[in-house]
Amino acid sequence: MRKKLIAGNWKMNSLKSEAKALAEAVFSKAKTDMPFDMLVCPPMNVLGFVAELPHDGVFIGAQDVAETQKASGAFTGDISAQMVKDLGADWTLVGHSERRQYHGETNAIVKQKAENAINAGLTVVICIGETLNEREAGKAVEVVRNQTRECVSALANAENCVIAYEPVWAIGTGKVPTTADVAEIHAAVRDELAKVLGSEIADKMRILYGGSVKPENAKELLNVENVDGALIGGASLKADSFWAIAEAVK
Ligand code: 13P
Repeated sequence: MRKKLIAGNWKMNSLKSEAKALAEAVFSKAKTDMPFDMLVCPPMNVLGFVAELPHDGVFIGAQDVAETQKASGAFTGDISAQMVKDLGADWTLVGHSERRQYHGETNAIVKQKAENAINAGLTVVICIGETLNEREAGKAVEVVRNQTRECVSALANAENCVIAYEPVWAIGTGKVPTTADVAEIHAAVRDELAKVLGSEIADKMRILYGGSVKPENAKELLNVENVDGALIGGASLKADSFWAIAEAVK
């Protein structure tokens, strides 16, 4: 039985005062023995600060780590996975479509970042998902299969790696795929994971859905076969809506 994971990606939002208010409101409701796991990924400016607040029952993650395998060195502006760990975070996202789109990150780069995260002792959430053009061309399944195969490292297992399927056209748009489309993609991702890592690991690895998850659609999406949680952007910036989504986990 895969425990569902409710993950918030704050993206480039929150000054220190806002982060304090949001984090405290999220953390105040959390307990250590919830029927789901909870993760928040604040931006780097407040990551260490948020990680130092009492956060029993909630994991803290970064949104990205550096591509270089070095823990430190001449890489201006980069933050290594070891630095993320040192800030008190235990998780990180990699390969978000906004990183792929605005920073030219390829599957090979995403795979390297995932390996760096795992090697530093972080649990990594690898984001994948097709663009609107790819979906309209009937290539969604092929694209996510390729991304899964090319981004997932042989170092990955169900404890140190999670996949997040986020169709690019559903992010921040209010549009969501049909439950049948979500089920089709998640089944394909699990099948591809079995080819890369073996079926025992693939069966245990969590696959999240992300893209316009709201309290109103959370229950339906979280009940789709092979959907093991949600990666939430906009609705994670309000403690009430983030928790309303979490509480949709049965
Ligand atoms: P929204 O929930 O705002 O659509 O963002 C999804 C996302 O990109 C999470 O990583």
